[in-house]
Order: sequence, then C-alpha cells, then structure tokens
Amino acid sequence: MGVLDHDELRRKPVEELTREEAARELERLAKEIAEHDHHYYVEDAPVISDAEYDALRRRNEAIEARFPNLIRPDSPSHRVGAPPAEGFRKVRHAQPMLSLSNALSATDVYDFDRRIRRFLGLSAEEIIEYTAEPKFDGLSINLRYEKGKLVQAATRGDGYEGEDVTANARTIADIPRHIAADDVPDVLEVRGEVYMPVSGFIRLNEEQRKKGEKPFANPRNAAAGSLRQLDPSITAQRPLRFYAWGHGEVSEMPADTEMGLYDCYRRWGFPISDLVELHEHVEELIRYHEQMLERRPELDFDIDGVVYKVNQLHLQDRLGFVQRSPRWAIAHKFPAHRGITVLNDIQIHVGRTGALTPVGILEPVTIGGVVVSRVSLHNEDYIKGLGSDGQPIRDGKDIRIGDTVVVERAGDVIPQVVDVLLDKRPADAKPYEFPAHCPVCDSKAVREFNPRTGKLDAVRRCTGGLYCPAQAVERLKHFVSKRAFDIDGLGEKAIEQFFDHKFIKTPADIFTLEQREKAGEICIHCLEGWGEKKLTNLFAAIDARRRIPLDRFIYALGIRHVGEVTARLLARHYRTVEAFLQAGRAIAHDRDSDAAHEIDNIDGLGPVVVESLHNFFAEEHNWQVIDELLREVEVLPEEAPMQESPVAGKTIVFTGKLEHMTRDEAKDMAERLSAHVTNSVSKKTDLVVAGPGAGSKLKKAKELGIQVIDEAEWLKLASIE
Ligand code: IVH
Repeated sequence: MGVLDHDELRRKPVEELTREEAARELERLAKEIAEHDHHYYVEDAPVISDAEYDALRRRNEAIEARFPNLIRPDSPSHRVGAPPAEGFRKVRHAQPMLSLSNALSATDVYDFDRRIRRFLGLSAEEIIEYTAEPKFDGLSINLRYEKGKLVQAATRGDGYEGEDVTANARTIADIPRHIAADDVPDVLEVRGEVYMPVSGFIRLNEEQRKKGEKPFANPRNAAAGSLRQLDPSITAQRPLRFYAWGHGEVSEMPADTEMGLYDCYRRWGFPISDLVELHEHVEELIRYHEQMLERRPELDFDIDGVVYKVNQLHLQDRLGFVQRSPRWAIAHKFPAHRGITVLNDIQIHVGRTGALTPVGILEPVTIGGVVVSRVSLHNEDYIKGLGSDGQPIRDGKDIRIGDTVVVERAGDVIPQVVDVLLDKRPADAKPYEFPAHCPVCDSKAVREFNPRTGKLDAVRRCTGGLYCPAQAVERLKHFVSKRAFDIDGLGEKAIEQFFDHKFIKTPADIFTLEQREKAGEICIHCLEGWGEKKLTNLFAAIDARRRIPLDRFIYALGIRHVGEVTARLLARHYRTVEAFLQAGRAIAHDRDSDAAHEIDNIDGLGPVVVESLHNFFAEEHNWQVIDELLREVEVLPEEAPMQESPVAGKTIVFTGKLEHMTRDEAKDMAERLSAHVTNSVSKKTDLVVAGPGAGSKLKKAKELGIQVIDEAEWLKLASIE
C-alpha cells in the first residue's frame, strides 16, 4: 500500500487511519490549529470559518480518542483559551487592585456585618450604612487622571502590575478623556468595569458568524478580547461600555462617603449604575440580592452577584484590608450555574511534569450561556468520590463513563462535576479503572508513597521521565540548564525549536546533533537564526560537556526529589557513575535492598529519595535513555573530599559581593574542602567570608565573635591542597 499524499490523508475517515497515518495527522492538526489560534487570538484575523475550525478540532479529538498513545505534548486539546497578549507595556498600580472576599449565603453576609462591628467596636444597634450595587462581570480597569486629563488606563493584571491599555480605553465613549470641572483632584484614579452589553455581544457574534469568524463564548470574554487588542481601531469598533465602582490613588478626596464619591463621578461624566442603593440593615442587603437575582435576566449586562460596601470612607480606612481583600466590602455571589449531561468518556492527559490528569468528555451542554464539553476530573481519588483530605465528596459517589452528571460552573472557575444521578446510571457501567501506565509512552505510572506521612500522593505520574514525549521538552530544558549540563547556546528556546523539528528527543540526541547535521540527516542551519558561526559555537559548547562531573550528571537526570543538593550527596557517596547506577539497579528490584538502606543512611537523604529512585530506576525506558547517553558522555568520578583541609567539617557563610568567582563556585569549592555552606549566620557558623557590601550577616558575625575573612584570604585558604 502506497503512502497517501497530504490531501488524501486529511480526508481519510478516522476509523480507517493506520497508526502511522494517525501520527502524521495529529502532527498536521497540532500545527494547523496552533496557526489558526494565532490568527484568531493574536492577530484577530481568522482565516477559516468557525465551522472549519471546529471540524479540525473534532478530527483531532477523534484521532486522539482512537490512539490515546499518540497524543502529542503540543496537542491542541491540552490548550484552552487565548494565550496572553504580548506587546502591552506593563504598569505598576499606584495602589494595588485587590479582590473581594465572597459571601455565598445570607449567613455569610450576617457574619460580614458582625465582623465589621466587632472590629470597629460598634454594637448591633448602631447604624452602619452600606452601599449595595451590582457586581459587573467584565474587566476591571484603573483610569488615572492628572489635572483632569486621562493619562493612563491599566488592566488589573495580578493586582500589582497590569497592562497599559490607554490607547484602547480612549476609544470607549463612556470613559471621559478630560474632566471639565473645577473640583477635580489633581490626581484622580477612577476604578470600574469595562463590559460588553448583552445586546452588543449578540450583535457582535452575529457579525463574527457572518464574516465566517469564531464567535465569543460570553460577553466577558468578548469584552476582554476587545480591550486587549494591540490595534486600538479594533477596540473602537466593539460595543464596550464602562461603569465606575471605586477609586485608586486620589490626591484630595472629594467626598466622605462612597455614595458622595459616586455623585462626583456622575457630575464629572462617569457612568454609575442606577441600581446602586444605600441600606442600613443586613436584611435589606439580602432583599437587594434576591431582587437583583430576579432582575438579572432583564439586565443588558452580565452580573455575577452584588457588592456591599461600608459607605463612610473614614470607616473604610479604619477597617483596612485582610490579605488581598478589603474588610469593608464583600461580594455576595449568585448561585453557580448548573447543567445536567452525560459523561461520554474519560481521557487521560499527561502534563509536562508527567502528571496524569483525567478529563471528562461531556455531551456538550449549555450552562449559564457557555457550552461546556469537558471537565477536569482532577485525579484518581476524585473519580472515586474522595476529596484531597480523604473525606467523601459527592456523598462518596464515584464517577463512571456513561453516568448522568450534574455540572456546575461558577464564574471563572473551571466546571466541576458536583453530583452523579445514580438512578440514571446504565446497568453495565463499571467503576473507572485509572490507567497504571502512561497513555503517551506506556511507562509505568505510579502514585508516590510518602513514607513520612504514610500517604499516597493524589497524583499518578508517569515514571518514564527521560523517555516520555509528553515530558521530553521540560526534561531536556532541565538537562541543559545552568546547574546541570550547562550547554552554552542551547537555551530553552533552542530546545523547543529542536524538539519541534524532531532533532532531539532524548538527552543523547544532543550529542549526535553535529554528526547528524554533517551527514545531512537533519538541517539545523535551515532554521531561522542558525547561521554557520552560531552552529559551530553550539557544537563546540556541546563537545565541551562530553566530560561531566558525577553530581551534575545525576542532577541532570531530573529524577523527582533529586535536586542539586541531593545529587551532590549521592555523587559524593558513590564517587563513580558505575557505582551509582549499580545502586540504582539494586533499588529498582527491591526498594528494601541493602542499597536502599545505604541511601537512607546518607546524612541529608531519606525514604522519599529512596522511593523516588526506586520509581525512576524501575522503569526500563529510563535505562535505555541513560545507556544511550553514556555512549556519548564520560562521567568524571567524584574526587575524594580533603579530610585534612583547613576548613574540613566547618560551617561557612558567604556574604557580600565576590569578585573572583560566583557564589556557586565558592560553595562548590568549600564543599570540596569538606566544609558545609549555609545561608545565615548563627552560633553554629565557624567562618564568614565577607565581600564588599556585606551587611547584616557581617554585623551578626562580629556580634557573635565569629572569624571573618575576605575573598583573597578565602582563596588562599582554599588553594592549600
Ligand atoms: S469593589 C478592593 N464593586 O470584582 C476591591 N468590584 O473581586 C474593591 N467588580 O476586581 C472592588 N463590580 O473587577 C467592586 N460594583 C463593584 C464591582 C466590582 C465588579 C469586580 C472588580 C474587582 C472584583 C473584585
């Protein structure tokens, strides 16, 4: 049978694809879908219709369902939503934009009022005024005015740093560009919500469809996508509106209440919702919540709850903040949207760190205006009906393929299966059996046992770390990183590029790049940015690392719980790679072997490392990768530490600037002289090496009468061999 050409292949029904064809198709689909995502999200210029795009995704999903072992690390089904926009300048907020804590029930609102009274020392009889207002479901924005002129608009971002969207905000008619009033403070930051009215959203989506473009999922996404456009002329065409709800930095407060501030805002031309009210009793707040819930369907903008705030600004000041939320305000949320549907399948996705995550594939259902077709099922215990604390969830009901499930969607939270309707369970539904092998590479997948806590980790992980394609990129990045093989010119970007082009799959491939390039098997110089000189330098840098110290080699393997320090302890204990691997073989066979006890006894190591080494070495795939690697590199034996060194057994602290070496080198040097290096000065410290700029550590050393030397003296000491 001949090889199908591209066009024939893309038309071939999924059921008829051979394994090899499926792999080719998945590769093509990953690439095409990523390109369309870029056109759509980043350039805002889709090149195919919504229906065509969906067909690509459906084909990808169908192939993945038939060949779960072929799911690619860059599979489009791993990606949800838009990538963050690039190209906006970051701005720091003069005052952080924090969030609100939530009240989910009337009791929570009574507690909120009680907490405030207790904090202010007010009795239940004393009056506290509260504003009650809608919680707009849009994007918060900080508008900074200086002398009445809009100088900056920034998104919330992480609360401390947002994105500069001034040019875009200027296109929104509701946002004044100038405030023409003589009582405007010199500095005025107005905060509020940019939103898209439901009517505008429906119209926009109709236009999108007519143009053959992808519709937005909901008004909030549409507002976010419209505001975060790199081209403000696109924002200008979108029906964005604004409501003010608060303030940031203000040079002179123009009012002493929240309501007074809103009055000023109205006079200055900012939209304030007509639904804002003032109340004095919790009962009234709760009635307001009920009324808004009733009125919600008739409003032309989405709200996901209501917000209550203490009206008096001086009380707000006294109340202040707890963690990231004000004590003086609370969001009384509306109940989550729910839907009932059938769970058609459970698929396992393998993350970049090897975690196996089950994803529920649902019969698509509209919940609160959004189509939901997949839910995270978190982990094995969750499917069984157990929470992270081992306690039953969903009354202990397990989840089975074919079950009718209740799915809840609360705001931005990912949809959850909150209940299983047992009377609808098909008679032949069987408890779900979580795979014991990685669906991507077929290595064993294990739940780590933590011997200290006696508990199993909730997450099952693929143990084929070095071999598994789903983890390969992360592992390769770790392998070449500074403290591992430290290959100059082979950074994270290059690793991704080489991996995408299939030049490297496992660490050993790095060392055969030159040979394969020269034989014409691969073409690195065909890639953009890889000129001859750069390539020559790269090959030289790779060659320079063909001899590698044992500790770096062990660290580079990326074994769970084997960080730099553990790798060093292991290297120092075993001295040669042969001895280390021999111990690995013994532990692989028996986690209770003499070799395991030996490691357990190394000062600084323990059962967690033993367990992890056992899992790693028990997987044959990892041996395959190590064997290939050892054909390419020579692992240098660890030199014996100098027992007679002048600092043997001493505890040393380095502080201040070192001029002739890096901190890491200094540490390494000290450890080779059998000294311990710590970060802080205490009574246990024997020696402090202080460079220029040393501060509190030096001071403390002097107070404690600890010997202090400078870098030159240290070098002299260290060179005594
Ligand atoms: S007051 C310290 N009022 O809800 C924060 N926020 O969870 C004070 N929001 O980031 C916020 N409508 O984006 C407040 N009427 C309203 C609001 C509102 C929507 C959003 C806002 C904020 C988030 C807080």
